[in-house]
Amino acid sequence: MRIIGTGSARPSKVVTNSMLENFLDTSDEWIVTRTGIHERRVISSENLEDLAATAARNAMENAGITAEQVDFIICSNVVNEYVTPGLGCIIQGMIGATCPTMDINCACTGFIYALDVAEAYLASKDLKNILIVCAEEPARMMNWHDRSSCILFGDAAGAVVVTKGDDLKAIRVSTHCKVEALYQKRKLQPTPFITKEEVDTEGVVMNGQDVFKLAVSSSIKDIDKVLTMAGMSADDIDLYVLHQANVRIIESIRHFVNQDKSKFPFNLDRYGNTSSASIPALLDDLSRDNKLKTGEMLLLSAFGAGFTTGACILRWSK
Ligand code: UT7
Repeated sequence: MRIIGTGSARPSKVVTNSMLENFLDTSDEWIVTRTGIHERRVISSENLEDLAATAARNAMENAGITAEQVDFIICSNVVNEYVTPGLGCIIQGMIGATCPTMDINCACTGFIYALDVAEAYLASKDLKNILIVCAEEPARMMNWHDRSSCILFGDAAGAVVVTKGDDLKAIRVSTHCKVEALYQKRKLQPTPFITKEEVDTEGVVMNGQDVFKLAVSSSIKDIDKVLTMAGMSADDIDLYVLHQANVRIIESIRHFVNQDKSKFPFNLDRYGNTSSASIPALLDDLSRDNKLKTGEMLLLSAFGAGFTTGACILRWSK
């Protein structure tokens, strides 16, 4: 595959750390030191589908294609206000596309899984352009009284258009069932027949330290594997575009690969963790700021609830 267009969209509401101090026992100093996050964007009046459609339109415009030229849409999403239909169906209608759509829920790793599916579809089907849209509102999943989790997340959408090409040098996705590290349960509609007790966790339940350790160990393993698959060394990578969860996670991974800080772009200071939207939205920021050069090798790595993980090596040729 080859990425030929990128796009992103974020909510207008900026929530700074000091705004959180108004209703949480926390401080700007604690959040910045432990996470690197200064502020995040949180949905207030927008609908997630509006952000998703804007990111999709930006990516199509950037790729120089129209909605009729999109042959397939993959949407990565954990929650939105619709239980059904999938968000991809809604995006299809909003942008005026007519192709099939598929939603995946692979948490923060969704973009890497979507790339993996796109690569397989491009290789096996008569498709030209695939639109990947990662649209997430994790802020709506949080318990805003839980200071250890709600401070981390923000809402966003990121999109790419991919076509046939040979820029993908290696890709790997994996899942290790570890539900207890990070999950949310909700009560479904009662029926006259339900006899079991059901749980509503009223937000995400997360063991931050476990997730931190899983994130670093799995990302290190994935990076090692994709480098081996591509026959490359850590030095051959120009930029490590990592899931934007915590600057300390990025630093731990950086120490492992022993590479300069300049190779690890980040925007989590302004946007927090936006789940699967984080990598495509960061790619879009980098591309629009002319920070990606043709021929550069990018290593993408993500991890999230599941525990799902994934990484790939991609040549930038836009
Ligand atoms: O896409 C994956 C999504 N999830 C993640 O990326 C989470 C990964 N984990 C992390 O980023 C970190 O574990 C956290 C940022 C969540 C927590 O940082 P930590 O350095 O692991 O802190 P901790 O959980 O060990 O807590 C240290 C202290 C505790 O107080 P005591 O028990 O030492 O008195 C916490 O209650 O910090 C307290 N604390 C806070 N204090 C002020 C936890 N959250 C806050 C807060 N403000 N927001």
